[in-house]
Amino acid sequence: AIHLEGRHFLKELDFTAGEFRGLIDLAAELKAAKKAGTEVQRLRGRNIALIFEKSSTRTRCAFEVAAADQGASTTYIDPAGSHIGKKESAKDTARVLGRMFDGIEFRGDAQETVEELAAYAGVPVFNGLTDAWHPTQMLADVLTMTEHTAKPLTEIAFAYLGDARFNMGNSYLVTGALLGMDVRIVAPRTYWPSDDILALAREAAASSGARLTLTEEIAEGVAGADFVATDVWVSMGEAKAVWDERIEALGPYAVTMDVLRATGNPDVKFLHCLPAFHDLGTAVGREIHERHGLTELEVTDEVFESKHSVVFDEAENRLHTIKAVLVATLSASGTAQ
Ligand code: CP
Ligand code: NVA
Repeated sequence: AIHLEGRHFLKELDFTAGEFRGLIDLAAELKAAKKAGTEVQRLRGRNIALIFEKSSTRTRCAFEVAAADQGASTTYIDPAGSHIGKKESAKDTARVLGRMFDGIEFRGDAQETVEELAAYAGVPVFNGLTDAWHPTQMLADVLTMTEHTAKPLTEIAFAYLGDARFNMGNSYLVTGALLGMDVRIVAPRTYWPSDDILALAREAAASSGARLTLTEEIAEGVAGADFVATDVWVSMGEAKAVWDERIEALGPYAVTMDVLRATGNPDVKFLHCLPAFHDLGTAVGREIHERHGLTELEVTDEVFESKHSVVFDEAENRLHTIKAVLVATLSASGTAQ
């Protein structure tokens, strides 16, 4: 069993490959226990604060249900509902919440904010997404990959298409590097991760044996891939004005059935952290539809709804993997049974 008592989870590289895999194993045990009705509560009496400076469906609900399943309570602090970052600094907020709570989740723009909370809270702090990283999402994606292939992690090849300079692209690159996977970043050069992030990934890959490919060529990037992943082209907090340039630059990198066929793998699976613009019937989507005349963006509806798509397994796995993080860091004994 994995023991990470008192540890923060601010980015993937906070953990060793062994610790990361230990969290995946714990998540799988917790998932099986929940489904069998044999889950044992390890977090009774614990209190967890959930700070959201940006909206969330999956991450918020995963933390709340995971905590409830394990007997802990949560306090949700919505984007407008606290003084943090406005009337009160992250440093002061951390020292207040650290006196009341056993753990703190934070979602917002700046990685510096979650780092500052961690520096002063005195309790474990979890990154629920910043512009730099989405580490809890990576646990869910890796668990989903292990469920949909018999291959060991070090033999799995995955390709990420789209904006690779933001949280999801950065996180896929370093996670694959940490775990020794075959990682392909497929995007126009200007959308590749920064040199700093690439350096971190290359360092991790040197010890894990990971293969890292950055390419503008879709056919080269996806050949032989077990998984193809993408993300929205404009992330939360970015200006609407960038849609035009993103649609032009990233349009060719949309995940279509042709892209899946180009893997040469009839069993290839499709991943997306969601929300996804596979149809533009949502409020935000309609605006883009009206402006650009498109009906789908980073992934076609055909791929999203196909047998290749495992996006709802991935979404469910946010619950089991976030629960693993809470159990491993906040309980005295990080075991499922
Ligand atoms: N994938 C993800 O983080 O979703 P939410 O924004 O709904 O939390
Ligand atoms: N890149 C996206 C991920 C959402 C889960 C965003 O930051 O909005």
